[in-house]
Amino acid sequence: MREVKILAIVVFFTAVTYWGVEPYAHSQMHPHVAPADFGFKEMEPLHVNGNADNGKLLVEANCIACHGIESVGYVAPMSLEDAASSYGVVPPDLSHAGVIYDKNYLAGFLKDPVRATKLSHKFNDAKPYAMPSYGFFSDQEIADVVAYLQNIVATKPSDKRVFEEACGRCHSMKYDALKAQTPSASMKNYLGAEAPDLSMMIRSKKAEYLTTFINEPLKMVEGIAMPRVGLSEASQEQVIAYIEKVGDRKKAERESLGLKLIGFMAIFTLIAYLWKVSIWKRAA
Ligand code: HEC
Ligand code: HEC
Repeated sequence: MREVKILAIVVFFTAVTYWGVEPYAHSQMHPHVAPADFGFKEMEPLHVNGNADNGKLLVEANCIACHGIESVGYVAPMSLEDAASSYGVVPPDLSHAGVIYDKNYLAGFLKDPVRATKLSHKFNDAKPYAMPSYGFFSDQEIADVVAYLQNIVATKPSDKRVFEEACGRCHSMKYDALKAQTPSASMKNYLGAEAPDLSMMIRSKKAEYLTTFINEPLKMVEGIAMPRVGLSEASQEQVIAYIEKVGDRKKAERESLGLKLIGFMAIFTLIAYLWKVSIWKRAA
């Protein structure tokens, strides 16, 4: 009878901890934040249809002075070192920008990059954002540039490629031999913080955290130096899949080891039980 009472007490406290204390502590440490909705509602949606041919002319006249667009043969005009020292951060290759970024985000970014990236706590007139604002373009011209960037994407980029274009100018992925295009000293100078290597990020921050973080870094960490990156929903999934693949290569191995361990414990329990039975027999 005594054993049953002890068991009941243990079960009771385990249940209180498991269903009561732990979820409460979790909700306090990780307050619930509404997930990204990919609507980019605070930016005016594009309401005119773009003309990709005119967009090409605008991109040639404006953007390729800084950006490479490898897929159509525009080579980045500077080496990574020179670009980092000229702008503070290396301008990304724009080969897949038309699908990587949501189109309303892209339009909003061209008009006002500081507002779109939510970095007004970092940049102002005294310390300007690295890329000029194209607020002087008409809505039609903005739509034309977006249409051109969408038009040149012939095939869906790989998960890794999305990461390189969207995150790779700031973050390294050492476990996949990707080095941040911007040296970390320049990064620190530009944003006031070094961008961490993301190889193991999936271990400390789960996919759920990243899903909100990428679109709304400030919602998760007050005053953080990381820009909001206006990824489309599909490319955000690709980035997270890539981070998961690199950071958790051992997942399958770990799971099979877990099964082996459970098997071992089961056999061990059986032996311990048989041993107990034999000792009690002897005592009797
Ligand atoms: C003077 C150089 C310069 C010019 C000209 C320029 N850019 Fe940029 N662009 C940059 C730099 C530098 C960054 C990276 C800024 C950062 O990460 O803070 C950038 C970032 C971007 C991004 C990434 C946005 C994001 O949220 O991550 C896109 C898209 C982009 N530029 C498109 C364009 C287009 C389209 C044009 C032409 C209309 C253009 N840029 C003209 C320097 C330039
Ligand atoms: C223009 C540079 C830049 C770009 C582009 C950028 N990041 Fe960051 N990121 C940073 C910096 C700087 C920090 C560190 C911020 C701090 O410590 O205040 C950071 C921090 C992070 C963190 C750590 C968050 C935490 O809670 O500690 C994650 C995760 C992250 N970035 C993911 C990404 C992903 C994924 C992308 C691409 C979709 C990306 N970043 C694009 C600069 C950048």
